[in-house]
Amino acid sequence: MLSPSVYARRRDALLDADAPASGLVLLPGNESAAMNYRGNPYPFRQDSTFLYYFGVDTPGIDGLIDLDDGAVRLYGDDPTLEDVIWMGTQPSLQAYAERAGVPETAPRSRLSADVAAAVDAGRPVHFLPPYRDRQAGRLGALTGIQPGRVEAYASTPLVRTVIRHRNVKSPEEIDQIEAALETTVRMHRTAMREAAPGRPEREVAGRLSGVAEAHGRGLSFRPTCSVRGEILHNHDYSRTMQADDLLLVDAGGTSPEHYAGDVTRTFPVDGRFTARQRDLYDAVLDAQTTAIDAVEPGVPFREVHLRACRVLTEHLIGLDLMEGPVEDAVAAGAHALFFPHGLGHLMGLDVHDMENLGEDRVGYADDQTRSDQFGLHTLRLARPLRPGFVLTVEPGCYFIPALIERWRGERRHDAFINYDVVADYEGVGGIRIEDDVLVTDEGARILGPDLPKLATAVEEVVGQVR
Ligand code: GLY
Ligand code: MN
Ligand code: MN
Repeated sequence: MLSPSVYARRRDALLDADAPASGLVLLPGNESAAMNYRGNPYPFRQDSTFLYYFGVDTPGIDGLIDLDDGAVRLYGDDPTLEDVIWMGTQPSLQAYAERAGVPETAPRSRLSADVAAAVDAGRPVHFLPPYRDRQAGRLGALTGIQPGRVEAYASTPLVRTVIRHRNVKSPEEIDQIEAALETTVRMHRTAMREAAPGRPEREVAGRLSGVAEAHGRGLSFRPTCSVRGEILHNHDYSRTMQADDLLLVDAGGTSPEHYAGDVTRTFPVDGRFTARQRDLYDAVLDAQTTAIDAVEPGVPFREVHLRACRVLTEHLIGLDLMEGPVEDAVAAGAHALFFPHGLGHLMGLDVHDMENLGEDRVGYADDQTRSDQFGLHTLRLARPLRPGFVLTVEPGCYFIPALIERWRGERRHDAFINYDVVADYEGVGGIRIEDDVLVTDEGARILGPDLPKLATAVEEVVGQVR
């Protein structure tokens, strides 16, 4: 855990004038979730907002903050002898409270009476939207709202306040993300070392996941590790790598306090890009580095995304895959055949930070609306950047057979796309390059240890380890 004063300061900010004005803030911690029977649970993952305000990383503890009298309480039960026999000695509730700087504790059974008293008195009870059925059931039981309607009663002022708090990272949070990236870069170097023609993808995926366990707190999400990099969230590892394949590895580790890393590299399995792979790789890299250079406070990330789209499109025109003018092609959304996703997202305790609070609330300012244009519609982050934001910059270029077939059949954007040339590129798969970037007062800083991304440097690292 971080120091008690960090959590106390964060909770004090909830009592600020611009936070929800009165009532209770109810922050239930997560419960253990059974995989197939109770004794065999999924790895426990605490709720990220609970972690942010209380830091307690164990199931079955809830937090309550009274906005009117400033009382803060943790509700839970001390471990039983049975718990100790099966799981070893565990901290008491009081010990957790001290580590979190929380002055009061109470048995878990008292929470429902305290919430019911507030409800009966007509006081607002602020809670966040549930993302697990179990949470909806519990919030429903505590507040008297039908579980199916709990989401509709989630507190908009609390959601807005939590986003405002969590989206600007403090120095200790940056340190955590850097720690996650230490592991993440180790994972990627392992992947570069382990990839080889004739080897199954799953051996690489398994080894990089092992690094996440051995050197960090496990994976921050299920990695993509595939020669079919055009499948955007490909979680299949069943193919065998061939000499002329590109392997796309999108993977991240987790820090001691559960902050995430999220990095992608794409490299030739045999250590040498073909000329065609290299042209496309250089195009993605140019889009990525230009975008990172464009990151600075005040700039809407939507502009950074469109800048990356224009750079990629210029390259694709140079390769005869597309026709200009660049501005017109990007305005029409023609480039999205090759780059159908957004440039990046905020990150922190969650890989897609706070996505459970609503993608648009997190990623868009009040005066911005999400485009419904194909490609731009998946842009998670559009809002003007502020110092302390941590975000990913992850352009890609993909040859997705089903999408190409559909667009070609519809002759969609055929003034801008040379479908005959595109056909020659099928089988190239996908290329993405992703780094995690801190917005500073002056511009941007890539977080984490260096991990090669220039084509020649990537070839050298992959080649060296053969
Ligand atoms: N790893 C998922 C993403 O890059 O957004
Ligand atoms: Mn990623
Ligand atoms: Mn990402």
